[in-house]
Amino acid sequence: MNFFDLVNISERYMELVNPSTPEKVLTIGRVLGLKEGSRVIEFGCGYGEVLALWAKQFGVCGTGVDIREHACNRAKKKMSKLGLTNRIEIICANASEHSFEKQVFDIAACVGASFIWGGYRPTIRAMKEVIHPKGKLVIGEPYWLQQQIPPEYAETQQVHTEHELWQIAREEDFDFEYVVRASHDDWDRYEADNWYGLIRWLEENPEHPERQEVIDHLHKAQDEYLRYGREYMGWAIYVLNPAKY
Ligand SMILES: C[S@@+](CC[C@H](N)C(=O)[O-])C[C@H]1O[C@@H](n2cnc3c(N)ncnc32)[C@H](O)[C@@H]1O
Repeated sequence: MNFFDLVNISERYMELVNPSTPEKVLTIGRVLGLKEGSRVIEFGCGYGEVLALWAKQFGVCGTGVDIREHACNRAKKKMSKLGLTNRIEIICANASEHSFEKQVFDIAACVGASFIWGGYRPTIRAMKEVIHPKGKLVIGEPYWLQQQIPPEYAETQQVHTEHELWQIAREEDFDFEYVVRASHDDWDRYEADNWYGLIRWLEENPEHPERQEVIDHLHKAQDEYLRYGREYMGWAIYVLNPAKY
C-alpha cells in the first residue's frame, strides 16, 4: 500500500486536514479582508475545505491544487454539492511542477503542505510568484514548542522555531500580520480523526492482504504523537503581507 492510499484511509472522515477548526479558518478569512470576487489559490488543498469555507462565507473565487486524485475527486464533489463549481476550480497536479499564472491572486495559501516545495522558505518564494504586489500569503506550519527537542525526533522533522519562521518571513520581505494557533484540543481532534479512519477501515477489512501495513501505520502515528508530537510540536496559520517597514 503506498503512502497516499494510507492517507486516503486515515482521512476519510475528515474535511479539514489540519489541527485547526472552521472557525479559525474563517477568522483568517476576516483578517485577510476576503470579499466577493477575491481571488485565492490554495496549494495542497486536500478536500477543498478551506476554499469552501471562504467561498461560502466571503464569496471568494479561485483554485485548489492537490496531487492526490482521490482528494481532488472529493474536493470537486464538495464544490458541486455546495454549488461552488463556478467559483472554485480544482486542479489535480504536483504544485511544485505545475505552472501557474503569475501575479494574479489576491491570496496564496498553503495550509499544512510546505513539504510541496521542501520547506517553509521555498514555499514563501514559490507562493510570492503568483500573488500581485499587494497580495498576501497564508501559511499553516508546524513549529517547535520548546528549545530542546529530543534529537531522535528533531532529525525526522523539518520544523523551525516560531521565531525562525518570523525571521525567514522578514528575510523574504514579508511581515507577520496575524497568527491563529492550534490548541491541544485541535491537535487531539486531528490526530484522533486519523486513528478513527484507520480503525474503522481495519474493522471493515478483516481479510485485506495489506491490513498489517495499516496497523503499522496506525501504531507509528500513535507512538509518535503520544511520545513526542503532543509535547514538542505546535502548529499555526500565519498571515504574511509584503513588508512595509
Ligand atoms: C495536510 S494536507 C492539507 C489539506 C488542506 N490544506 C486542509 O487544510 O484541509 C496536505 C495536502 O497536500 C497534498 N500534497 C502533497 N504533496 C503535494 C504536491 N506536490 N502538490 C500538490 N499537493 C500536494 C496532499 O495530497 C494533502 O492533501
